[in-house]
Amino acid sequence: MQTHTTLAALRAQLRQWRREGASVGFVPTMGNLHAGHFALVELARKHADKVVASIFVNPTQFGPNEDYARYPRTPDRDINGLAEQRCDALFLPTVEQMYPFGTIGCVQMHVPGITDILCGAHRPGHFNGVAQVVARLFNMVQPDLAVFGRKDYQQLQVIRYMAKEMSFPVEIIPAPTLREADGLAMSSRNQYLEGDERRTAVRIYQTLCFMRDAARQGLPVPGIEDEATSRLEAAGFTVDYAEVRRADLTRPRSPDEPGLVALVAARLGRTRLIDNLEFDAA
Ligand code: PAF
Repeated sequence: MQTHTTLAALRAQLRQWRREGASVGFVPTMGNLHAGHFALVELARKHADKVVASIFVNPTQFGPNEDYARYPRTPDRDINGLAEQRCDALFLPTVEQMYPFGTIGCVQMHVPGITDILCGAHRPGHFNGVAQVVARLFNMVQPDLAVFGRKDYQQLQVIRYMAKEMSFPVEIIPAPTLREADGLAMSSRNQYLEGDERRTAVRIYQTLCFMRDAARQGLPVPGIEDEATSRLEAAGFTVDYAEVRRADLTRPRSPDEPGLVALVAARLGRTRLIDNLEFDAA
């Protein structure tokens, strides 16, 4: 695997592959890679001749009181893991390369509507930062396709919207959520969980399953959401939201609509966890 720390070196590599007629799949990450990320690389490999991953902890998607400084950075382990996955190239840009005019003077990106609800309501500016860095990465890598996990369901919708609206010639491929044996969705933030918190964390997945089952039984959506919130609070979470939405994240009229998804964001101690369950897929 080639590791590139400059855009010039990455582009030279990409030009060579293009000359050979190879298609390029892209997996953007913030590092601290786990099996969930490696599954994204594997999926990209199924769809493209060459796979590029990036590791960049993007400052513009963290709020002032969020975990940017303590976000786990494990570059050596990540590089070994990606090489084992037979990833073809890794792009490791610096903050200066990504934001040459700084993070204040940079061109801004704002996807309206879906960024104001759910995580967007609790993390103001977060999805602007995500859209901004993904747009920059798409320009740098110019991939044919890019893989994003369904675990970050709202992020996936934001990126789909942005790519379509901005005419990025990139196919967005969603990847299923990988779970631990007890159902906890894999996430780099799981390692913040201390003591009993790890055992409690699985209650999010159990609550999502309750929400799906209750919808299948025809319980009204507001009642499902209230009960889900109460269950999580009783388990020790501070709940940002527990909601049932349509696939496009608008509110459903009734619990038996096809294609609904339950989404939860909740804090346990210092750790904010998110997860979701698509009713038709589960
Ligand atoms: O999902 C992530 O890890 C990040 O939000 C992404 C898409 C790499 C942008 O920084």
